[in-house]
Amino acid sequence: MFHRLFPACLIRSKTHRTLCKYLFINAANISNQSFNVLGVETSCDDTAVGIVNSDRKILGEAIHYQHEIHEPSGGIVPNLAMVNHQTYLPSVICEALNNAELDMAKDIDVVAVTRGPGLPGCLGIGLSAAKTLAAVLRKPLIGVHHMACEAHALTARLTHSSSDLLPFPYLTLLISGGHTLILVTHGIGHYTQLGTTIDDSIGDAFDKTARLLKIPWLKGRGGGPGAALEQYALKGDPKKYTVPIPMRKDARRKREMNYSFSGLKTSIKDLIEKYKLNLDDEIVRYDLAATFQHAATIHLIDKLELAFEWCRNKGIALTALVASGGVASNKSIRLTLERLANEQHNIPLICPPPHLCTDNGIMIAWTGVERFRAGLIDKYTIDHIPKWSIANK
Ligand code: KG4
Ligand code: ZN
Repeated sequence: MFHRLFPACLIRSKTHRTLCKYLFINAANISNQSFNVLGVETSCDDTAVGIVNSDRKILGEAIHYQHEIHEPSGGIVPNLAMVNHQTYLPSVICEALNNAELDMAKDIDVVAVTRGPGLPGCLGIGLSAAKTLAAVLRKPLIGVHHMACEAHALTARLTHSSSDLLPFPYLTLLISGGHTLILVTHGIGHYTQLGTTIDDSIGDAFDKTARLLKIPWLKGRGGGPGAALEQYALKGDPKKYTVPIPMRKDARRKREMNYSFSGLKTSIKDLIEKYKLNLDDEIVRYDLAATFQHAATIHLIDKLELAFEWCRNKGIALTALVASGGVASNKSIRLTLERLANEQHNIPLICPPPHLCTDNGIMIAWTGVERFRAGLIDKYTIDHIPKWSIANK
């Protein structure tokens, strides 16, 4: 463990700037050794901490969910989320360390934390805690981008089954509450964005449709409105009703690699009004949930097909299709993506296990491993970046 390489007397005698420089220089030598990273995630509604080893071992984690406090409002209430992070983060950090049977001072070598994008107050709580831990214990600090090419997207390199790290380049589909992105991932922090959503994210569309259909949220790990809609869709008939697949009518938009999900919820609403559907009837809600999920999945595939074609035209030999983000925990979507990757493009679909697709601390810790290896250490003065564009990460 490289923390032993920083003698306390030397560290005590350094000014802050020199210490950062010292840590940075040493990271280059250390990144070949085995090291442990603790990751803190508080960007939205889950207070999550994970600990991983640079040899791809998950050592421990803990999460405090907030589903019960947000469900009555039908969405995340930022102030409530912030207060809950404040209340629970210290015990979540202790629980993760206890689960891993590790000591913060002795066994953790690097502290990683989500810097953005996310809710400003919520990000600040995780960031302050991580910065303080790192500074007082003289550990390198790594600020992580929650989504693009980073936390959600890199988790696949931690969890995929082969003994080797998943090689670049791969096609990444990031589908969460905050993003709907298609990227070609060429390397750490090196990617090409092929498509994004022009309105709602797919996660938003799931959540709004779940609210429209009055579906009660699932609680605990893998819970929330989107997961609840998936359970309803399982029991429904996706062909009972028809809704237009977004961006198919207009020839120009058909060729665009962007997504548009806001119209889907409206189409479901229109169906309810047109046929005067009774939402007290569970079967009606099952069928509508299945109709929505089916249309959303076809829309995902339509644009992915264009992305595959783009890569083919550019001569990019993809190693895999990687899907991550909360919506990638949806089993029906995973199955469809798997068929697309295996049968149409002869590459594997690599998805983190469902519980690591939704927000968690493991993905932050793993990104810490990747960035630390690349020598990307941050200063203890870094701030949160609530609107962190992927273009300038
Ligand atoms: O990645 P994530 O946990 O948080 C963000 O970074 O946004 O994604 C949360 C989104 C929410 O919209 C949630 O309802 C959706 O992912 N989600 C699902 C499922 N599980 C979570 N959507 C569809 N099916 C699921 N099983
Ligand atoms: Zn997320």
